Amino acid sequence: MTKRDVLTLLRYAGKEPISGEELSAKIGVSRTAVWKHIQALKEEGYQINAHPGKGYYLLKVPDLLLPAEIQQYLSGGKLGSVIEHHYELNSTNERAKELATEGVPEGVLVVAESQNRGKGRLGRGWFSPEGTGIYLSLIFRPSLTPEKAPGFTLLGAVALARAVLEVTDLKVGIKWPNDLLVEGKKFAGILTEMKGEMDRIHSLILGVGINVNTNPEDFPKEIQGNAISLKTVLGRPVSRVQLIGAYLTVLEELYDEYLESGLEPILKAWKEWNITLGQWITVSSGTEKFYGQAIDLDEKGSLIVKDNHGEIRSFISGEVTLKK
Ligand code: BTN
Repeated sequence: MTKRDVLTLLRYAGKEPISGEELSAKIGVSRTAVWKHIQALKEEGYQINAHPGKGYYLLKVPDLLLPAEIQQYLSGGKLGSVIEHHYELNSTNERAKELATEGVPEGVLVVAESQNRGKGRLGRGWFSPEGTGIYLSLIFRPSLTPEKAPGFTLLGAVALARAVLEVTDLKVGIKWPNDLLVEGKKFAGILTEMKGEMDRIHSLILGVGINVNTNPEDFPKEIQGNAISLKTVLGRPVSRVQLIGAYLTVLEELYDEYLESGLEPILKAWKEWNITLGQWITVSSGTEKFYGQAIDLDEKGSLIVKDNHGEIRSFISGEVTLKK
């Protein structure tokens, strides 16, 4: 914690040097301890200069998803109160599942600068290059039965759409169930995984991948036509830590609302962002493909589709292809 206090004081002082003596008095540790914390911060990538006779000042903050950087944007809620940061992981969802098995509490966040086996929905992968995207997983422990889990994932998508609007002013769309699109291309996806019994959820892992500052030519050829980043749309880079902060804040509000009032308000919010309802679509679920018009969501968040013979089907999971 003290390392974070040193950082907070340096941040607050801006370009004004602050002496080792003042830091040690304010935080209540020895000057040697202050010096050690400064070295540790430097090792994490903070550029801290020492002005002879005057003290330390913060020159540059690294563009990394470090806990102290994210936590600046949080207001002390449950989500993100503990953050585990990795430079590289196979998958943040896999790591979060391990932590959930170890019994960590709800709200623990795992973030990575890159993933070498990022997982997408339906057994696919998720392109996770270093430093330009957000790869995060949150652990939830809701007192819900497993059939409520799909509805929960809609909540994750709504929160992200709202957070993007807040940070960038960009209005994005949600393709059922929880793909986030802008200019007809996908910039973020959500993978929810669950551990539990037939009648009780032990933990839910909400994994989110966001193409934030990825350049178009850096996407693998096979997804270049369908993938986009926020930077490409806006023509400027977006702060990843600010976006994570906004996401966790909105998500916590919506999660509380969900626990209090159920899925209804979440479904209402989801519909405000949806780009699926009203469209003629193909839903692929398992080995089946069904073509029809997406007409509504039911109370569980399943997609209701009606074909041109009037047959109505509902899907709790699946992949939607929008017909142009
Ligand atoms: C999708 O297919 O749309 C879902 C993509 C989810 C990717 C994220 S990245 C962070 C988290 N860890 C993973 O391995 N996958 C999710």
